[in-house]
Amino acid sequence: MNPENAALVRASWAEIVPVRKQVCTEFYQRLFQRYPELRALFKGDIEHQTGLFVTMLNTVVSSLENRDPVVPLIKTVGARHADYGVEHGDYDKFVEVLMETFADALGERFTPETRAAWATVYADLAATMRQGAEESLH
Ligand code: HEM
Repeated sequence: MNPENAALVRASWAEIVPVRKQVCTEFYQRLFQRYPELRALFKGDIEHQTGLFVTMLNTVVSSLENRDPVVPLIKTVGARHADYGVEHGDYDKFVEVLMETFADALGERFTPETRAAWATVYADLAATMRQGAEESLH
């Protein structure tokens, strides 16, 4: 990812990190409200899950300009998601709600440029997770 977009993602993530608990709680609430069918996939404690999700995003945001070393990890997580019953189309539901939640948290600071930069990050992440899921089937 180019340095300008990486800077936008890092700056917005730095604002979310201190309020990650509220942001993630809000995210899962919205996700399950809009897509109730996804709730049953989550078997564990959502608060614990939130922590793991944030850690994963931290890893991704830290490697925006040097993605290769984290690709195997992302693929492994993607393969586990297939085991949880996550389907390809679920990634689109996830990002729609995630972007809305970020927009609410950041207000005007979530500019169209920042949103577009996040959309690229998420698209790469989801594509690699799906790839990991597919490779695990072979
Ligand atoms: C690209 C974005 C995503 C990231 C970074 C992510 C990250 C994670 C992480 C780190 C875990 C912890 C367990 C593990 O490492 O295997 C997890 C679990 C899980 N994720 Fe995701 N995930 C993403 C997308 C999704 C989507 C689209 C769904 C579909 C609803 C989903 C559903 C789940 C479920 C069901 C679990 C297991 C939790 C449990 O059993 O309680 N994730 N996710």
